[in-house]
Amino acid sequence: MATTTRQATIPITEVEHAAFCKPEDELPAKSLAEEFAVNIRWQKIPNEYLHYSAQELDQRINSARQKLGSTVTILGHHYQREEIIKYADFQGDSFLLSKQAAERPEADFIVFCGVHFMAETAGILCAPHQKVILPNITAGCSMADMAPMDDVEDSWEDLQEVLGDHGGILPVTYMNSIAGIKALCGRTGGAVCTSSNAAAVLEWAFQSAERVLFLPDQHLGRNTGIKLGIDPEQMVVWNPFKRLGGNTVEQLRSSKLVLWQGHCAVHTRFTVKQIQAARERFPEVTVLVHPECTRETVEAADMNGSTELIRKTINEAPAGSQWAVGTEISLVNRLALNNPDKTVFCLDPVSCPCSTMYRIHPAYLLWVLDGLLQGQVINQITVPEDIRRDSLIALERMLSLQ
Ligand code: 13P
Ligand code: SF4
Repeated sequence: MATTTRQATIPITEVEHAAFCKPEDELPAKSLAEEFAVNIRWQKIPNEYLHYSAQELDQRINSARQKLGSTVTILGHHYQREEIIKYADFQGDSFLLSKQAAERPEADFIVFCGVHFMAETAGILCAPHQKVILPNITAGCSMADMAPMDDVEDSWEDLQEVLGDHGGILPVTYMNSIAGIKALCGRTGGAVCTSSNAAAVLEWAFQSAERVLFLPDQHLGRNTGIKLGIDPEQMVVWNPFKRLGGNTVEQLRSSKLVLWQGHCAVHTRFTVKQIQAARERFPEVTVLVHPECTRETVEAADMNGSTELIRKTINEAPAGSQWAVGTEISLVNRLALNNPDKTVFCLDPVSCPCSTMYRIHPAYLLWVLDGLLQGQVINQITVPEDIRRDSLIALERMLSLQ
């Protein structure tokens, strides 16, 4: 038995999550020196970048981009702050952006303004000559950090032992996971999924195994299982700090879905109470949340879907419509700004940006662009060849289902 009860460890990214929460909804960019006052891990950066004003940064970034021309593509995830997204050649969700990288082979350098797993995925999908850069190396994802490789390998070994001769189990991992887990899925017949195709990938997985291990977000896994009509009684949570994930052999053998005990600190802030308050204030409001929210919140909402679905639904909604949104604040603020004829607001009255996404400050973007101008690749994200090959299998399995 590889898993034994051991001390629970909380990823540092999770501990730091509330770092930028503010009671008001304005999140204006400050100089990096001022932002450093927020006591979290920041990557060290040469001193000169700490004190540039917003105007200086803007002027220097524009000038660097002009000099670098089409050799560089800047990608911006929907959750990036306004002061970053304005430089993005492409905006999108994690998967769309990785595909953009692969579709731009003329760009030798892909500057990925997002978090670590996204840059890794771009590195897996893009051409061998392309180099992917993450402007701030401490921009991880606390959910992905909840599924470290050793824990997943031990858990997988135990699940094989208990379920191997009892209908088997396939692993499906959400895009928000490290490349090593995507590779494990590729090697063992499993696949990757995104929040927009999780149901299709799970349906596919159930064609060849009686059960699925869903990593690392228990909420997306549970919400998708419910959507597919799986009995909640047949969904067990796998706590990696407990022997057999805290389950009995019988519970595992009668399960359909084994849900890794991971979550997103941003999306689990949204509650049924907030939905009730929004409906009291705006009786005509439509509540739209991301499926990383808890089951109760998703069930109380009117709709749920990926960042791309949220963006498209609100942008295409009729003038005068009202939207209470349960996703990251930078995207909600942008949707409100771009749709002045509609009422768009965040369900949570406290503004809580994803603290890892927020670490991509314009000063870091300038730093990596300046590096390229001097022939230096700062913060290149690489994936070892065997991991890249096996992850690609899991990503291609997902793609073949679309
Ligand atoms: P998308 O895959 O929809 O971009 O979401 C990524 C994410 O981190 C959601 O919290
Ligand atoms: Fe990770 Fe949540 Fe941030 Fe998305 S919003 S990158 S899942 S911590």
